[in-house]
Amino acid sequence: MNIIVTGGAGFIGSNFIFYVLKKHPKDRIICLDCLTYAGNLSTLAPVMNQPNFRFVKLDICDRQGVYKIFEEEHPDVVVNFAAESHVDRSIENPEIFLQTNIIGTSVLMDACRKYGIRRYHQVSTDEVYGDLPLDRPDLFFHEDTPIHTSSPYSTSKASADLLVMAYHRTYGLPVTVSRCSNNYGPYQFPEKLIPLMIANALADKPLPVYGEGLNVRDWLYVEDHCKAIDMILHNGTVGEVYNIGGHNEMKNIDIVKLICKYLQKPESLIEHVQDRKGHDMRYAIDPTKIHDELGWLPETMFKDGIRLTIQWYLDNRKWWENIVNGEYQNYYNEMYGKKGL
Ligand code: NAD
Ligand code: TYD
Repeated sequence: MNIIVTGGAGFIGSNFIFYVLKKHPKDRIICLDCLTYAGNLSTLAPVMNQPNFRFVKLDICDRQGVYKIFEEEHPDVVVNFAAESHVDRSIENPEIFLQTNIIGTSVLMDACRKYGIRRYHQVSTDEVYGDLPLDRPDLFFHEDTPIHTSSPYSTSKASADLLVMAYHRTYGLPVTVSRCSNNYGPYQFPEKLIPLMIANALADKPLPVYGEGLNVRDWLYVEDHCKAIDMILHNGTVGEVYNIGGHNEMKNIDIVKLICKYLQKPESLIEHVQDRKGHDMRYAIDPTKIHDELGWLPETMFKDGIRLTIQWYLDNRKWWENIVNGEYQNYYNEMYGKKGL
């Protein structure tokens, strides 16, 4: 198969490329990524010279550029990871989220319509369902839970999902959508909770927990997410949405304390800072459908995944120290300065 992977220089996209090239060595991957602050070409160094891998620096909103790649490569499958992905940034500046996440998606789907495709897969998020109350642990997101977004980020992702389903119904485009819970693992940009806390703890810097830290996320090791997408591509039903989650709900504060424990750092580093605006309380996925239909189950327990992740950040300091010491420092000072850190 010829697979276009967009956003492959980011966290999940790069892990997906590694997963597919290992599992299906006969597949060819064309990675489209415009290398925003979150994209890192060095991440793809291990595969850059493989004959069945091609990297193209391209914005998915660039219609002519995208059409040209379709003409050159005749892809069988498109997997769209490319997105602005950080909720806090979407609260500061929503517009780029609408541009990349909605318009970019529409350009890709137009290309699929124009040139034909066997499958277009949209990588979405459980955040499109909004949040659940902390006092109702019996409630979970199902595929038919109404979309009820909170942040500009989740709203842009939900809009893209609706557009994808509309292209399926209106034009018969063979699409699938997956909505996954919070991922963690190697190559995650240090602005997100887990890598940010690891990097700060290693530097003995304050660990900024929003509000009381009681918000709950359902954490999934990134490789399990990649495996689920691969299964959907091969055996999923066109026109369907699949929820992906690990039944691994944890409070933010407990995660931060666990990281302190593993790194042997004092919990006194924890600082409660101003809460995120519109902060979702709890995300929790019911993954029954993908389990029953495709046989998917998460394989990495959180206690193992978090160790692997911390070890990866210890072993790959250069990767994230380059980021933390660059332009990101300005973002960090501005964002966390406003929060009172
Ligand atoms: P990321 O921010 O680490 O990576 C995004 C990548 O997309 C970067 O390489 C960036 O350069 C690229 N990109 C951004 N705008 C682009 C554009 N206009 N054209 C081409 N490339 C562009 O994100 P991630 O955490 O790897 O998330 C990947 C996808 O998975 C996103 O669609 C996100 O919504 C979804 N998702 C993420 C999580 C999570 O926990 N990280 C959970 C569920 C769903
Ligand atoms: P994040 O990794 O940004 O993912 P998302 O907002 O998509 O779930 O944040 C995970 C949780 O951690 C969320 O409840 C916000 C919280 N958080 C902090 O408490 N401090 C931080 O510095 C960050 C980045 C997040």
